[in-house]
Amino acid sequence: MSTQRVRIAVYPGSFDPVTNGHLDLIGRCAPLVDRLIVAVLRNAGKQPLFSPEERMEMLREATRHVANVEVDSFDGLLVEFARRRGACLLLRGIRAISDYEYELQMALMNRRLAPEIETVFMMAGEAYSFLSSRLVKEVIALGGDVSGLVPPQVEAKLKQRLAAKPAGRASAG
Ligand code: PNS
Repeated sequence: MSTQRVRIAVYPGSFDPVTNGHLDLIGRCAPLVDRLIVAVLRNAGKQPLFSPEERMEMLREATRHVANVEVDSFDGLLVEFARRRGACLLLRGIRAISDYEYELQMALMNRRLAPEIETVFMMAGEAYSFLSSRLVKEVIALGGDVSGLVPPQVEAKLKQRLAAKPAGRASAG
C-alpha cells in the first residue's frame, strides 16, 4: 500500500477578475501537484467589481481544460481554509521586486499561524510581469485595449460592467 500523500496546493487571491498572468501561474503549478485549489477571497476590504460567484465562474471557465484545478472561495484566515482543504502548499506569484515585501510579510505570518503549510512563490511569465487586475480594469474603463491580457470572456464581462460606469471609477484589485 502506498503511503504517498496527496499534494494539494491553494492559490489564493482576489481574482477581480482573473488575468492571463494568473492563468499562466495556474498552468505552471498544476502539473507539479495532485490538486490545485484556486481560492477566491470573499471578504475583501476593497470594493470588488465582481461578486465572488462571478469571479469563481470566470475562473472555472478559464481553467476548465486543466483537470486537477478546482475553484473555491474562502472567508477569514487563509491558513484555516488551507487546513480544512488538506493543503500543504500555498502558491503566490511574484511579478517584480515590488511584490516581494508584501508577499514576504504574508508568507511569514502564514508560517507563524500554520508552520506545517509552506508558501511557494513562482515567477510570473515575463509577458505578464506588469499585469494586474487593477490595471486591466483601469485600461478598460478608459477605453483601452486589453486583448491578450485576459481571456476573451473576461474581457467581454469587463466591457459590459465598466461601460455602465463613468471612466476612471474602476475599483482596485
Ligand atoms: O490577490 P490578492 O488581493 O493579492 O490576495 C490577497 C490574499 C487573498 C492572498 C490575502 O489577502 C489573504 O490571504 N487574505 C486572507 C486573510 C488572511 O489570512 N490574513 C492573514 C495572512 S497575512
